[in-house]
This record gives sequence, C-alpha cells and structure tokens, in this order.
Amino acid sequence: MRKIDIYDTTLRDGEQSPGVNLNSIEKLEIAKQLERLGVDIIEAGFPAASPGDLASVKQIASTVRNSTVTGLARTVKSDIDAAWEALKVAENPRLHIFIATSPIHMTYKLKKTPEQVVATAVESIKYAKQFFPLVQWSAEDAFRSDREFLAHIVEQAITAGASVVNIPDTVGYATPQEYGALFKFLKENVPNIEQAKLSAHCHNDLGMAVANTLAAIENGADQVEGTINGIGERAGNVALEEVAVALYTRQDFYENIKTDLTLNEIKRTSQLVSKLTGMHIQANKAVVGKNAFAHESGIHQDGVLKEPTTYEIITPELIGETSNNLVMGKHSGRHAFQDRAKSLGFELDQDSLNSAFTEFKKLADRKKEITNDDLWTILTNEQLKE
Ligand code: KIV
Ligand code: ZN
Repeated sequence: MRKIDIYDTTLRDGEQSPGVNLNSIEKLEIAKQLERLGVDIIEAGFPAASPGDLASVKQIASTVRNSTVTGLARTVKSDIDAAWEALKVAENPRLHIFIATSPIHMTYKLKKTPEQVVATAVESIKYAKQFFPLVQWSAEDAFRSDREFLAHIVEQAITAGASVVNIPDTVGYATPQEYGALFKFLKENVPNIEQAKLSAHCHNDLGMAVANTLAAIENGADQVEGTINGIGERAGNVALEEVAVALYTRQDFYENIKTDLTLNEIKRTSQLVSKLTGMHIQANKAVVGKNAFAHESGIHQDGVLKEPTTYEIITPELIGETSNNLVMGKHSGRHAFQDRAKSLGFELDQDSLNSAFTEFKKLADRKKEITNDDLWTILTNEQLKE
C-alpha cells in the first residue's frame, strides 16, 4: 500500500479566502476536528503575519497531538524565528518555507535573479534546519517555472535539508496531463529526488484542481495539500474531501493507494468549516453538497429504490451523513435532541446540552421544521462556549 499524506491548509491558504477571518477559538475548534478527521499535517497559519496568528498557531501546536502542526514562513530569518516561537511546543515541529521560482514572480515580485533565488532558498532552509527537524520547501508558482531551473532549485533545496518539496500550481493554470508530466520530469531529472517527498498543491481557477492533484499522485506525489470544502484564494484550493473520496471510491483504478482519513468525519468537518468561515457550500458540490445524494427524477428514484448502486457511487454513510428520518420540531423531546446531537458528532457536557436544548426550543417556536443545519449552528455555538 502506498500512503498519501494529507496536508490540510484550511487555516492558512483557506483563511486567505476573501471575507474569511477566523478567531483563535474557531481555529482551534477546526484544528481539533481536522485531527479527528485524521489529516497528517495541519498548516495552522502564518506566524509572522500577526501576533494573533502566532498565538493561534502556538495554541494549536500545543493542543493537537495526533496530526503534525506546521506554519508558513517566507525565506527571511524573522519569519522563521516567528514560526519557531509558535511551533517549538509542537510534538514534531515542522516548517513550511516558500519562495517563488517562475520568471514572472522572480522578475516582478521578488526583483531577484534566478541565482539569487536559489541562494536565498538554500540559506533559509539551512537556517531553519538549526531549529526544525523537518523542513518543507515550496517553489511558489512552480507550474509556470522553467522546468530545468525548477529541477535545479529542487535539487539544491534537498541538498540544503528540505525533506518535503512542494510543487504548487499557484494560479490554477495547469491541466492534469501537464501537471502529472511535471512530477514525472522532476522524478526523472532531480538526482537526489528520492531523499525527499514530492507534494502537490493545486488551486482551482480553471476547475481542474482535483484532476491535477490525482494526476500528481499518479506521477509520484506522496503528499497532497488542500482545504476542506476547497476554500482559499480566488476560486480556492483543491477540496481534500473530494480527493480522498475519489481515491477510495476508485480503488479499482487507484489500486494500493490510500489515505489515513476517517472518511465518516468528512461531513462534520465540512459543516464546521462552512459555519465558522461563513462560506456557504454550493448545493451541487461533489461529496458534501446538500444535493450530493439527492435523486430528483422519477427514473433515477425508481432505479435507486430497486438498487441504490444504479445511480449512487458513494453512500451518504461513507462521509458520515446522518439520516434525517426523525423530524425535529417543537414537539421533539430532550432525548431525541440528545440523540441527534450525538449522531451529528457533538459530545457536549450536560450544561451545554441543556443550554442548546433551550435554544432549540426557542427556534422551534418560530420555525416549523428544524434542519440538521440549524442544529449545527446551535450546537457549534454551545461547543465554542465550553
Ligand atoms: O499556492 C501557493 O503557491 C502557496 C504557497 C505559499 C505554497 O500557497
Ligand atoms: Zn496556495
């Protein structure tokens, strides 16, 4: 079995979605849920960005134990120092450093020659290695970089001590064939490539992030980076739940490739991220959209009733979607409420449960049917108060 590491950047790249600003309690709540989901690495933030970000990364690093916690830094000492301050409490301190390698970025943004970029990358990795046992290095805008130059800088980064090398499609420009071919090229043309893991990081500007990520896996990526619900800058990052469910559902094609995600925590994670970021999930979104398992047409309904696999390639249970056959309303009692809270994955103490039940009754007086979404809001609010 080849295991793909899942690197979640909901709290860093995801938080860069326009209009999203999570407070430290919300970030910690999401990090704890990502740990429950079983992600291997949580990128908790960008410690040098603000004292608040540093404190929040530190809090997550000291709380989360079953996922590795990392933070982002530019190739400058002050960023690396801030990241160390935030991450030294972590179980396995890990740093993510990046610098752009495409001609467009080097010329206009960095105003550096390619040689200067190589020197800066190498120097920063060596500096970071004095503190961090594991350093990941990213070639920002890797996909639009010159391939030979990319191979050269990747080799230098590995020699300097990077043990994970990330090849982002920063602006979502790649097609699956091209992105896969780039991984193959690096595998074949970087002499020390076996000393590092290759990572894929896809943005979704042309709607190809999932296909590109899968193409990278097919061509040697051992780590994939993305966010829950695909939130992120512009059109977002790859939606990790889509990648994981695709690998699982198409085991016939992705033979012997697996992730360690607990797939039945997907729905709960998706809902939490949506509620706390305020980013609505489109109804027809793959895997976690409201309509992902809904059948409307008579022909489809007939088929599913006769045999679900006629039109269902994944089941709602796989991702932890709870059936909704008990309708919650003002006549529902404490027992049914407690039961539903449990099936939605909430384990609240008695006081919080009582308070949530009161809120539920107040809402039920105003609204005929209380949906799981309504319950999510009520229960999440109580959880955040605990
Ligand atoms: O998209 C990107 O290139 C990034 C880097 C910081 C890794 O998010
Ligand atoms: Zn990104």
